[in-house]
Amino acid sequence: MLTTIYQITQIINSILDLKELLNKVMDLAIGLVGAERGLIFLYRSESDEMEMVVARNMEHQTIKDATEYSRSILKEVGHGQAILSHDAATDERFKEFRSVSIYHIRSLLCVPLRLKSRIIGTVYVDTREPGVVFSEDDLRFLEAFANQAAIAIEIARLYEQVRQENQYLRQAVQERYGYENIIGRSPKMREMFTLLSRVASSSLPVMIRGESGTGKELVARGIHHNSQRRDRKFFTENCAALPDTLLESELFGHAKGAFTGADTSRRGLFELADGGTLFLDEVGDMSMPMQSKLLRVLQDGEFRPVGSETPRHVDVRVISATSRDLEAMIKQKAFREDLYFRLKVITVKLPTMRERREDVPLLIDHFLAKIAHENKTPKLRVDRDLMALLTRYDWPGNVRELENQVYRLALFAGGDTLTLHDAQSDTEFFGKVTLPGTRGADTRLTRDDLQRALNQANGNRDEAARILGISRATFFRKLKQFELGQKRPRLVRPPHTA
Ligand SMILES: Nc1ncnc2c1ncn2[C@@H]1O[C@H](COP(=O)(O)OP(=O)(O)O)[C@@H](O)[C@H]1O
Ligand SMILES: [Mg+2]
Repeated sequence: MLTTIYQITQIINSILDLKELLNKVMDLAIGLVGAERGLIFLYRSESDEMEMVVARNMEHQTIKDATEYSRSILKEVGHGQAILSHDAATDERFKEFRSVSIYHIRSLLCVPLRLKSRIIGTVYVDTREPGVVFSEDDLRFLEAFANQAAIAIEIARLYEQVRQENQYLRQAVQERYGYENIIGRSPKMREMFTLLSRVASSSLPVMIRGESGTGKELVARGIHHNSQRRDRKFFTENCAALPDTLLESELFGHAKGAFTGADTSRRGLFELADGGTLFLDEVGDMSMPMQSKLLRVLQDGEFRPVGSETPRHVDVRVISATSRDLEAMIKQKAFREDLYFRLKVITVKLPTMRERREDVPLLIDHFLAKIAHENKTPKLRVDRDLMALLTRYDWPGNVRELENQVYRLALFAGGDTLTLHDAQSDTEFFGKVTLPGTRGADTRLTRDDLQRALNQANGNRDEAARILGISRATFFRKLKQFELGQKRPRLVRPPHTA
């Protein structure tokens, strides 16, 4: 008997799925004592109820009566006495139970599922066959089995609980923290986060649509970092920035001697990103011949480096982005329709700043925190009037423009709170927000603006241009105009941060 119990224990301990386990326990219990039918009840401590979780060949009345037996077992706290009836029909204890007489139940057993001092449920089996009678041995056998089953059931329950919690936590992490640097709580952004949480784990191609500055690259990175490819490389290529020949060798690499100046062979981004993600920005600006080459990689995962005969095989997830109207381009035969469908298996549409004005304060707060962190200074605040102005403005350059503007405003801060007055001294900006549509306002930039930006950027001109939200060329033109280009500006940062 011990060996059998041991073997059975091994079987049930290997099942972690609760439903599957309960079914197995039921079948084993019936088989062990040669019963005909069976039930398993589990006790729900929170509702104080016995809940039937498995039934084999049972009618309603018997289930009801067996629930009563189970309750009586449970009531004997600490004892949990099992019930055995050799001949139920003549047994005084079952007089009251109609199932016994209606269904001619000959012999029945009901044993507790005992876990140390706790009873977590019961196992009930019976038989209506005239020749079969359960013995004391059957009872002890079933009790021993039930003790083992109780442990297995408890483990499976715990496992299920942990798994559910894990799933919940993983989802929370993915939705909340995985994209923590993508700011936005507006309905349009929430919709996008929900979509992202569903698509990140797959390897399907994603196309990100949205105006310039809406965060397409940021989202592409977020998708990569939430995918199973997160430990592999993420590369980005701006398809609008390079002429065809260069773009081709950037993407696919080239063999040694493929063209003048190719003294060595070079691996392309598709090869470098193998197993990872390649972000193709401004994909709508690709020439038709390049589109055909891209289509080939997406179809077969195969490409040939420039000047090489040997095809390469790669596994790359392609995320593309564009601010162009691809559908119109397809009609004009400027974009391949087949490539379009390959790329846009999943489409993520990013809202403009106008469509999510309510996120403006949130974004401003985010960038002010970033500035404070970068400069190791206290975080600036924005007063109500200025916030109203900033929220009303249309931000044609979307988050990018907003980010640049917050950096600029920080330069004009008089105290710890940015006010309308501070914004007024940023004449370029003030002109823009109060006269919508005015462009080319960099003529309003003063010598002081430039000086402040240079100080903030520690003398780095590229950085200073970025802070002011103007191009490098404009910045240099201004430097010359104000004769600021010659001497290196004084550092204004506290010495310990330098
Ligand atoms: N939702 C956002 N939350 C925080 N920063 C954002 C958000 N969207 C964009 N940005 C920031 O704005 C700038 C422009 O974003 P980017 O992804 O380059 O836009 P796009 O590729 O659509 O032109 C980046 O500095 C980016 O970090
Ligand atoms: Mg971009």
